[in-house]
Amino acid sequence: MIKEDIDRAASLMLASDYVVGLTGAGISVESGIRPFRGPGGLWTEYGEPPMDGYQRFLADPKRHWEQISRKDGYLGELYKALEGAKPHPAHYALAELEELGVLKYLITQNVDNLHRAAGSKKVAEIHGNFFRMRCIQCNSRYEQEEISLESIPPLCPKCAGIIKTDGVMFGEPIPLDVLEVCQREVGNSDCILSVGTSAFVYPAAGFPKQVKRNGGVLIEIGPYETELTALCDISIRGKAGKVLPQLVDSVKFKL
Ligand code: OAD
Repeated sequence: MIKEDIDRAASLMLASDYVVGLTGAGISVESGIRPFRGPGGLWTEYGEPPMDGYQRFLADPKRHWEQISRKDGYLGELYKALEGAKPHPAHYALAELEELGVLKYLITQNVDNLHRAAGSKKVAEIHGNFFRMRCIQCNSRYEQEEISLESIPPLCPKCAGIIKTDGVMFGEPIPLDVLEVCQREVGNSDCILSVGTSAFVYPAAGFPKQVKRNGGVLIEIGPYETELTALCDISIRGKAGKVLPQLVDSVKFKL
């Protein structure tokens, strides 16, 4: 029974010292952004992009910026969805869990900014943020409107390094500052709540496994089985927008 699983998950979270959340594309599906894999996934339809996207960028940054302005294929669809998206009850539920002091940190693989828009403050965006740009030399982040695209590739106002979109590409190392935050938080965690991720892409996919290996609790929410399901203490089958608000209610009832 889902209700019993949700209540058990709430009890396990409250019995833990340091609950960390991990989210993926699935949590934003109900905000109108398609996931990458599985039913309805962008790459299920368009195929996966090349695995050496970052190397291609380094070889020809100007071409990357031209592709972005053309918004071909899946990029166009993704950009359109990201630009209009608003948080939904699952994003607000995670923000509330932080506010209640139950969720200590949130690691998201999403670039859609919806956790921050919903009020989450302690957020590590391991794959970057669609609305920002980043210098590949000094890691400075900029809001889109701070950087002119009159000449491409744009150059960093601080160090003249090449600027790319902040979203991490295939083949690109995770920026060290974010990775360090994730490693610290996962190292502190004795309970991880994984929502809407296929747990397919590393290093994020390794975080729940690490917490579990260290003797922690693993809770998963999503409509289908994932790579993590077999390892989970509780795997709740359902949509994030339905399950997470119920989880918050259960936590508040038990507090
Ligand atoms: P995926 O598209 O791989 O997985 C989405 C997961 O969400 C699947 O397990 C779905 O079953 C589940 N899901 C679908 N609808 C849901 C709903 N309403 N509520 C809850 N879950 C739902 O997305 P990620 O795991 O985030 O990286 O993919 C990881 C990374 O792969 C992405 O960050 C992206 C891509 O490479 C970059 O672009 C750098």
